[in-house]
Amino acid sequence: MPRSTISFIRRGQRVDVSNIDPKTTLLDWLRLQERSTGTKEGCAEGDCGACTVVLARERDGKLVYEPVNACILLFGQVDGAEVITVEDLAQSDELHKVQKAMVQNHASQCGFCTPGIVMSLFALSHSGSQTISRSEINSALAGNLCRCTGYRPIIDAAIEACSDPSPDQFDARAQHTLELFKQFRSLEDVFVGNEDAFFAAPAAESSLAFLVQKYPDATLIAGATDVGLWITKGLAPIKKLIWLGRIRGLAAVEETETTLSFGAGVSHDMAAPYLGAIDQDFKEIAGRFGSQQVRTSGTVLGNIANGSPIGDWPPCFIILDAEVELRAGLATRMVALEDYFIAYKQQNRQPGEYLRRIILKKPSENDHIRLFKITKRRDEDISAVMSAFRITIEEGLITKALIAFGGMAGIPKRARATEAAIIGQPIKDIATWRAGAEALLSDFTPLSDHRASADYRMRVARNLVIKALAEIAGVPSSSTRIVGLRETAYAAE
Ligand SMILES: Cc1cc2nc3c(=O)[nH]c(=O)nc-3n(C[C@H](O)[C@H](O)[C@H](O)COP(=O)(O)OP(=O)(O)OC[C@H]3O[C@@H](n4cnc5c(N)ncnc54)[C@H](O)[C@@H]3O)c2cc1C
Ligand code: FES
Ligand code: FES
Repeated sequence: MPRSTISFIRRGQRVDVSNIDPKTTLLDWLRLQERSTGTKEGCAEGDCGACTVVLARERDGKLVYEPVNACILLFGQVDGAEVITVEDLAQSDELHKVQKAMVQNHASQCGFCTPGIVMSLFALSHSGSQTISRSEINSALAGNLCRCTGYRPIIDAAIEACSDPSPDQFDARAQHTLELFKQFRSLEDVFVGNEDAFFAAPAAESSLAFLVQKYPDATLIAGATDVGLWITKGLAPIKKLIWLGRIRGLAAVEETETTLSFGAGVSHDMAAPYLGAIDQDFKEIAGRFGSQQVRTSGTVLGNIANGSPIGDWPPCFIILDAEVELRAGLATRMVALEDYFIAYKQQNRQPGEYLRRIILKKPSENDHIRLFKITKRRDEDISAVMSAFRITIEEGLITKALIAFGGMAGIPKRARATEAAIIGQPIKDIATWRAGAEALLSDFTPLSDHRASADYRMRVARNLVIKALAEIAGVPSSSTRIVGLRETAYAAE
């Protein structure tokens, strides 16, 4: 029998909740049910961070503390975690070190953003790192919008709090928390609700495969950083939800000398170090994906499965000859990532089928990677144009080219005419760069929307072709980039 409760730890105690609308968000449960109103609602779409709370989970025998946007996290996703909110940090009259630093540095004015900022810094102070740099602090706070204080005192508070190594009450009771987590390690499935409206959280992949086939009309969620918005902003009448986040096997990263594989439960945060090791541009893109809260919850495969033409990862993975593995019941099949996207909102996935994992092929020695994300802001912004280049150079000639764009068509797509125009040509010849940019005109007919006009998209995309090839030819990135300067450049004669 599956367990019929969402079960988690709150203030050192196990809590079991059975009567719950499956699409209730964690924020609504905290504010409307538990009446913990310290956590605020600002945008209700994952952008402002006012609703940030921390989920502690056991991973590889250790406690990890991750900030999440409670406004778009569905309540059922806290199953098996400890939920920590701003009310839980102070002990009687003694503020937590993060709160003290915020007070001492005058880092709050109206205070609306403050609980979210405190929780992001609380998670950062538990990141396990002894030395936290200013850029790590900036990154940790990129998803927390403060409209009135200004970030200087907030960053000062962050530096002060994160350089204080003294343990807090959560460290003191870590062993007890780990013991409590053992209760949730069982292989029982979770099913809360009835046949018409439910939140299901299978513990094994066989149960997931069974449920997805039995309820092909249910909405599958991984991090819910997309689906959460359908609920809070689109008011989608979703009744059946299947969450894959309890299946440990799906949270696996597998690496060989030539490949990398991410399971459906692997978050952006978990994937980042592996991707960063492929090339420094992957590190840059991984660090600019949404905010820390989005990278903690959102998954790599969710970014593929949603089929968005402007997702960050699809073009980057297409150039790595990625394949996705789909499963329906006991049957599995592999599909090349570029064939997975058929047309706008249409993918090569049947009802009852789900994505299990994605396999990427690592570039070889002669391959040169360049990735460019064009947005209005550096952080917390979805691209107007996303571009990815993998150019193979042998003896000064381009022998292979894989170029893919997002934001230029209804799906993420290869620029095949551009590839053909540069293959066989000398990388250092400006005429090669110009021919590539010219050919892009026959690859795409972009649309205008609120992010960018068609003309802008085409212009910027053509410039990116020149920029990528110029950098690979050896033009220093200080003359092609403002951020994400590269340490190395191809300079073969
Ligand atoms: C504030 C904010 C900032 C963001 N910034 C970025 C950004 O910078 N770049 C970017 O590309 N995106 C961004 N996103 C979008 C989103 O975070 C990503 O697309 C994310 O990767 C989605 O993953 P998820 O696990 O949360 O997906 P979910 O919301 O859980 O699911 C998304 C879709 O995929 C389906 N799905 C999920 N997993 C599977 C599976 N294994 N098999 C089949 N179907 C599945 C779901 O049914 C749903 O249709 C942002 C979102 C927010 C709210
Ligand atoms: S309320 Fe703005 S991120 Fe949640
Ligand atoms: S203190 Fe007012 S929004 Fe930050």
